[in-house]
Amino acid sequence: MWTSTPPGASPGGAHRPLPGWVRGKEIMDAYMKKDAAAKQTGGWWFNAFGPDAKPLGVDVVKGCYECHAEGAKGSDLVFSKFIE
Ligand code: HEC
Repeated sequence: MWTSTPPGASPGGAHRPLPGWVRGKEIMDAYMKKDAAAKQTGGWWFNAFGPDAKPLGVDVVKGCYECHAEGAKGSDLVFSKFIE
């Protein structure tokens, strides 16, 4: 659905390509930030930026939260897991 982010392309450069990933064309940088004030979206802020680092203006309830709430409801809306 999206690719990982080359350093510098995201505000703060938070994302790094993971080993074994092949980089495609960058579609967007997707962010989540935990904050109890984000009541509409399960205690997480969601946001997405294009390759030019401009906000994409997605409807984060329908476009982000609903899928995370459904698919990752047992793990605080986060899909990724630490390697054990
Ligand atoms: C159709 C389902 C779906 C939608 C819609 C969706 N995501 Fe996700 N998201 C996933 C899945 C599955 C993963 C884990 C696999 C991956 O990284 O591709 C994930 C991973 C993430 C991660 C890494 C942390 C984690 O949960 O593993 C972030 C951050 C994220 N999504 C943000 C967003 C944002 C922001 C939006 C809206 C712009 C969004 N997502 C929309 C399914 C979705």
